[in-house]
Amino acid sequence: MKRVYFDSAATTCVSESVVNAMTACLMNDYGNPSSTHGFGRSSKALIEQARKNIAKQLNVSPAEIIFTSGGTEADNFVLNSAVRDLGVKRIITSKIEHHAIGHSCEALHECFDTIIDYVSLDENGCVQLESLKALLADNKGKTLVSLMHVNNELGNILDIEAVADLCQQYGALFHSDTVQSIGHYNVDLSKVKVDFCAVSAHKFHGPKGVGFAFMRKNTGLNSLIFGGGQERGYRAGTESVHNIVGLDVAYKEVYDNLEKDSTYVKELKAYFIQEITKAIPTVKFNGMSGDLERSTYTLVNLLLPVSAQKALIVLFQLDLKGIACSKGSACQSGSSKGSHVLSEVLFGDDMQKPSLRFSFSKYNTKEEIDYVVDVLKEFVS
Ligand SMILES: Cc1ncc(COP(=O)(O)O)c(C=O)c1O
Repeated sequence: MKRVYFDSAATTCVSESVVNAMTACLMNDYGNPSSTHGFGRSSKALIEQARKNIAKQLNVSPAEIIFTSGGTEADNFVLNSAVRDLGVKRIITSKIEHHAIGHSCEALHECFDTIIDYVSLDENGCVQLESLKALLADNKGKTLVSLMHVNNELGNILDIEAVADLCQQYGALFHSDTVQSIGHYNVDLSKVKVDFCAVSAHKFHGPKGVGFAFMRKNTGLNSLIFGGGQERGYRAGTESVHNIVGLDVAYKEVYDNLEKDSTYVKELKAYFIQEITKAIPTVKFNGMSGDLERSTYTLVNLLLPVSAQKALIVLFQLDLKGIACSKGSACQSGSSKGSHVLSEVLFGDDMQKPSLRFSFSKYNTKEEIDYVVDVLKEFVS
């Protein structure tokens, strides 16, 4: 059976050179990086080289990169430590953040009485900067703003430079979940004045279970995990050396080829939009995902014009045809477990309809898109 993978925003396939580097590391560099003998020192050297490479690309200092188990841990680290160690009393965030942020905020409110304020969004889920400004102007104590750079469901891109400037103007800290942007866009952190951000390797052809937090120098965060003094005391636990090596290779590969690959993937997205609109003229695009300039080139989120009953079987039907994508809806019949993101941008009858997120990588082709469009056309009719 034909198999096509359009779920790269969930996770990407691991690139061959990453697998090779990780395998070599597992075979040869098994020393504990905390050991002082030669085996340990060569493992440690791999970690520090990775840190240097990543920092150079982001235009920051290696000391500002803390390896973690991925995006969720990096987000949790920043938010929890900001409240616990920096005296943050209020977090300003949005209703369309990843659960790594949303659920962390809820837990911080429960445990520490942290005030959680939400910025207003427009009908497409775009953050209203005026609303952020008004919230910042209303001084309720030390504040952290946490707003994601690229939304993982809608693809909306936040103007993080403008948000960073506002935060500086009002003396607030700024954390951005950059899991869907770093690895897909050039981000120069010497210019974009975020204090913290979170990155995950498996979103750009690296391994799962590794990522990093960027933490601007002297911000005063502290480890949430106690143990050895790894990561200069910011994150205890023996480092996952092979994963960090995989992250390093994936990161280098992605940025060495960024212009060529992002142009190719953007063309795929444009082709998808063109063909699906021809095949199903009443299809809608959720959030900004149909706008090639104001959403990430890596994904599109469709609202299919089908009944609620048919909505239930769409993913199953696509799976039968070997197509992998993500399904969401604002409201699923008989359950309250709809997408918290879609429920912010869909209204009325659209809330019952199925939304499908197709997300792309350099490994996809136009032929695969033709196949998906044919299958979707048949399903809708
Ligand atoms: C925007 C965003 N933040 C955080 C995460 C969590 O990252 P990880 O899977 O590395 O824990 C994801 C993953 O889906 C994501 O898309």
